[in-house]
Amino acid sequence: MRFLPVMLLSFVSVFTLQCTKKTSNEILIGEYGSLTGSEATFGISTNKGIRLAFDEINAAGGLHGKQIKLITLDDQGKAEEAAQAVTRLITQDKVLAVIGEVASTRSLAAAPIAQQYKVPMISPSSTNPKVTEVGDQIFRVCFIDPFQGTVMAKFAMENLKVKKVAILRDVKSDYSMGLADYFTAKVKELGGEVVSDVSYSSGEMNFKAQLTKIKGTAPEAIFIPGYYTEVGLIAKQAKELSINVPLLGGDGWDSSKLSEIGGSAINGHYFSNHYTTESQEPHVVEFINKFKLKYNETPDGLAALGYDAAKILAEAIKVSGEVTSAQVRDSLSKIKDFAGVTGKITIDQNRNAVKSAVVVKVDGRVNRYVTTIAP
Ligand code: PHE
Repeated sequence: MRFLPVMLLSFVSVFTLQCTKKTSNEILIGEYGSLTGSEATFGISTNKGIRLAFDEINAAGGLHGKQIKLITLDDQGKAEEAAQAVTRLITQDKVLAVIGEVASTRSLAAAPIAQQYKVPMISPSSTNPKVTEVGDQIFRVCFIDPFQGTVMAKFAMENLKVKKVAILRDVKSDYSMGLADYFTAKVKELGGEVVSDVSYSSGEMNFKAQLTKIKGTAPEAIFIPGYYTEVGLIAKQAKELSINVPLLGGDGWDSSKLSEIGGSAINGHYFSNHYTTESQEPHVVEFINKFKLKYNETPDGLAALGYDAAKILAEAIKVSGEVTSAQVRDSLSKIKDFAGVTGKITIDQNRNAVKSAVVVKVDGRVNRYVTTIAP
């Protein structure tokens, strides 16, 4: 028994040595996302985009002579799990930076931890303004919801020429609540009217009561800033209630599962998004082809944003003299005119990206490009 402390000590030192040896050739990057749960396509697509980017960089020799190692944790689409995942990535895995989350509510749950430990976090796709307001360590490579709300309000009133709109929002989602408010403000500013504003909680499956109420107010379009699982069901039930006006939404509709859940009821409806698969730009076409080759599927907006987030992080690491979280944070804040697949990305003084949005029309599994709206 007297030997135990000595044995333990040598075990610890051997272990530490191996770890140092193992990680010295690697740059550790953490990722957290919903790989399972009702928003699983968000996490899975994002992860595929990130892996494609890092695999390309590693194949070309890595960064500062080191290979990038991605550590991905599943938060199951739960805010508490997201916070725990980021704590683990930072305190146990000692990652240099973190990529995540997609959903604003989960980015908001985890961002204070990255901020506290001074480890830069980049959300590929959380659009609620509060996310980057958490502090100077928190970045994003997507546009924000005051803009996205404006895009859809303008589209409804100027392109579809409607004046009376209804809103169906998710009270459990920071994203949905924010986007509904920004949309409302712009509709009013443009001289339109919100004839009804009703809500649901994500996880619900029957929306007939809300839809009946909306129908009674005779809107010319309905704005549903939710995620695909609920939106698919809402579209189906709206059709069953003979509601035949255009349904409008935001990026949260972007999933191959939307048309699986909504069936033909979702066809012909519109949402704003970060990129279009119908782009003819050479670097976008090249990305789509590489993605298809690797995964045998067309990349959605989340995959494209995951790819851009990973590429921007790699660029920031590359230009940093020393590979430390502090230097990478500074380099991230200086990213300018980066040619991303989701557009040209410049990080502004609030650590947000200023970019255009596209409006697409659902047509089965394809989202047809309709128009681009610039900030
Ligand atoms: N923007 C959404 C949010 O902040 C997440 C999302 C982005 C979903 C892109 C789908 C596509 O919650």
